[in-house]
Amino acid sequence: MPRLSRLAGQLKAESAFTVLALARALKAKGKDVVELEIGDSPFPSTPHAKAAGIAAIEANQTGYCPSMGLPEFRAAAAKSVRDEFGIDAHVENVVVASGAKPFEQYFLEALVDPGDGVLLFSPHFPTYSPNIQRRGAREVLVPLKAEHQFRPQASDVKRFLETDPKPRAIFLNSPHNPTGGVATREDLAEIANVVRGTDLVVFSDEPYCHMVWQGSHASILAEPGMLDHCVAAYTFSKSYSMSGWRMGFAVGHPGVVEAIGKLINTTASCSPPFAQQAARAAIEHDAPTRDEYMARFRRKVERLTLGLQSIDGFKVNPPAGTFYVFADVSELCRRHKITSHGLALYLLEAADDHFGVACLGGECFGEAGRGFLRFSCAEPDERIDQAVAFLPLALSRVDRIASYLKNSLVAYV
Ligand SMILES: Cc1ncc(COP(=O)(O)O)c(C=O)c1O
Repeated sequence: MPRLSRLAGQLKAESAFTVLALARALKAKGKDVVELEIGDSPFPSTPHAKAAGIAAIEANQTGYCPSMGLPEFRAAAAKSVRDEFGIDAHVENVVVASGAKPFEQYFLEALVDPGDGVLLFSPHFPTYSPNIQRRGAREVLVPLKAEHQFRPQASDVKRFLETDPKPRAIFLNSPHNPTGGVATREDLAEIANVVRGTDLVVFSDEPYCHMVWQGSHASILAEPGMLDHCVAAYTFSKSYSMSGWRMGFAVGHPGVVEAIGKLINTTASCSPPFAQQAARAAIEHDAPTRDEYMARFRRKVERLTLGLQSIDGFKVNPPAGTFYVFADVSELCRRHKITSHGLALYLLEAADDHFGVACLGGECFGEAGRGFLRFSCAEPDERIDQAVAFLPLALSRVDRIASYLKNSLVAYV
């Protein structure tokens, strides 16, 4: 094998996909695994989206299209964030890509130079770090605090601006994966007040914009002047159960959006036009199904929260948004001398020969996540109940925990 580049050699992949691969391998060997590791939907893609995608393929919309996206889809996307979140966006403010994730790289390439400081509130979505690393920029971690309901604080942005040698960008993510924290309109207005008039730019990652259970979703782009400082990323993966279609869009200043269009031109060329037609139909016709799905997710989150709250050693606050429950299991980790990542792997691999629960250790989201487990609601209700019933049993099997610790590298440090 040829020598890998330093970047590829060090790249850390999103652990949800690694645990997913492990869970699927165990399932292939016959183990019954409840998969609460990946943030995906158990529901089918919304109906108008599916029909429009199929119709577009039948109509041979299967060739290249503009790198920035189909103009009619960009216009529909702009209208949706204008109507729903009060962002003054128009067609020239929107660029299309394969989901929200690619915009992490495009944002950094469009606006951040090597050596620039990038503020990350942590725990954080795992691919932010490798993308910052890919750009040669500097990650500056600031902890999100449970006592602030995991909401970003303007005072941290101010300190970053005043103390970092080259402060340039902030990554915001609300509703927040993995903690379920939701920034209020006031939080965002305070952050905007710090950012306005400076050289700072903001990546506002908003994939869970329709999954807010306490209050309502607010975008920093709706604050005065913020379209000039921010790029917001939206996706069809969560709201319309379309993760496999790989469809998303970003909103920002027309000049930045055009630069991102060039970055797309030189990498992906464009996004599939039939998937864009599907996403456009989702925006235009599938809001009722989306809202019904969101109500079902909300009930799932409540069910999972209540279930986990009943387990000895689990401290669980109801998430204000998202379909994740972020449980504080630090006391259990201390008791069993195991890391939270180790505990997650034990529940999947070793707690039982025939049954397992896949979830993620908080460390998958940075050191600040240590002592937590993240559970998603990606399975039907009865499977969630089975998982919740299994956890106390798994934790009572202290001999199994001890032998797992002896034979693996997951001991508490
Ligand atoms: C915070 C955050 N950003 C981005 C993504 C990626 O979403 P997409 O499927 O649109 O690329 C996810 C998916 O889990 C996420 O949680």
